[in-house]
Amino acid sequence: MKKRFKAVSFIIVAMMFLSLLVACKDNSSSGGGSGGKSSKVSVGIVLPTKDEPRWVQDEQRFKDALADSEYTTEILFSQGSSAKEKENVETLLNKGIEVLIISPHDGEAAGAAVEAAKKDGVTVIAYDRLITNTDAVDYYVTFDSVAVGAAQAQYLVDQAEGTNVPLYLYAGAASDNNAFLFFEGAWSVLQPKIADGTFKIANSSEAEGLKDKAELSRDEMSKILGQVTTNWDPNEAKNKAQTHLTAAGADLKGNVAILAPNDGTSRAIADVFATDGDITSYVISGQDAEKASIQYIIDGKQSMTVFKDVRTLVKDAMGMAIDILDGKTPETTGTYDNGSIEVKAKQTDVIVVNQENVKKELIDSGYYEASEFTGL
Ligand code: BGC
Repeated sequence: MKKRFKAVSFIIVAMMFLSLLVACKDNSSSGGGSGGKSSKVSVGIVLPTKDEPRWVQDEQRFKDALADSEYTTEILFSQGSSAKEKENVETLLNKGIEVLIISPHDGEAAGAAVEAAKKDGVTVIAYDRLITNTDAVDYYVTFDSVAVGAAQAQYLVDQAEGTNVPLYLYAGAASDNNAFLFFEGAWSVLQPKIADGTFKIANSSEAEGLKDKAELSRDEMSKILGQVTTNWDPNEAKNKAQTHLTAAGADLKGNVAILAPNDGTSRAIADVFATDGDITSYVISGQDAEKASIQYIIDGKQSMTVFKDVRTLVKDAMGMAIDILDGKTPETTGTYDNGSIEVKAKQTDVIVVNQENVKKELIDSGYYEASEFTGL
C-alpha cells in the first residue's frame, strides 16, 4: 500500500486564501461568530492533542485566520484518544456541521468517525495526517511529508565527516501515516550513504538487516519503526535514547548523526546525547519549527528543523471548506492513495531551517517575534 502524493498537471491557484480573506467577515474562532450566519457550527475542526506545541500552534493559526470569518467554526482536541476523537466528531455533527476538518490521532481508527460524518452528508477534509483504509475522506491538505524526511536525512548527510559515522534512527508513531512518509523520505537519502560506508546504523538490527534495500515496503518500515518509534512522545524518545546509549560501545560514540522525527522528540533525544561524555558531537534533525526548538537551534543544541508553515495549511483547509459551503469544487493538486481510494489532495512545500537562516525564515518573515528568543 503506497500512500504517496501523485501530482497532477494543472496550475496551482496559489493565492486562494486572498479571496478567502476578502470573503471572510466576523467570527469567533471556536464556538461560532456573534454575527454569523446562524447559531449552528458550519465547520468542525478536530486536532489530535493539546500536549504538543505543534497542534496548539495549528489551533492558534486557525483562530487567526478565522478572526474575521462569517463562518462559524469550533475546534476540539482528541487528546491522543481515538474514542475521544469519535466523541468530538459526534458532538460537531450534533451541531450541524457541513464540513469536518480532521487530523486523526490514529489514521486507521479514525475511519469510524469519518464514516459517521459521511453518513450525515458532511464533507471530510483530512488535515496534515491522512485517514487510511476508508472511502469516507473527500480531501486531504498536507505538507510534502516525504520531502520532510528527505530534508532531515540530507542534513545529516551534508554534515557527516569521514566514514562509519554512527547513525541513530528514530521515527514517529506507527498509527500515523506520516511517520511512514517521513521515514520513507529519510531512508531514500540515508540508504545509499549507509551502503557506501559513510554511516553505520547504531540502534536498529531491523534497519541493519535491510540496509541494502533502496526502497522499503510498508511492512519492512513497520519492522524498523517497531524498534525505533518514539510514538511522538518525548518521554519515550528520551527513554529509548538512554537505552541505546547504554548499550552502545565506543565504536558507536564519538561524532554521531541522529535522525529525530520532530522537534519535541529531537529536544528530548538531544538532551540525552548532550550529557553522554563519550559523545563528542552530534548532528540531529527535527521538524515543526517549534519555538523551543528554534531556541535550541540558536543555542546550538538542535541542528536543524523543517519549517512547515501552518498558516498555509490552515488557508488551504479553510479555503476548501468555504468552497464546499459555497457549493464550489475545491482546487486540488494531486492525489494520495489511502489504501481504499485516491484522495484528492493539496500539498505544500517545506523549508529547511538551521542556525544560518533561522532569523530570515522565522523572524524576518513575521512567523515569530524576535522577542520570543534570546541570542538571535
Ligand atoms: C505531523 C508533525 C508532528 C507529528 C507529531 C505528524 O503527523 O506532521 O508535524 O510533529 O505528527 O504530532
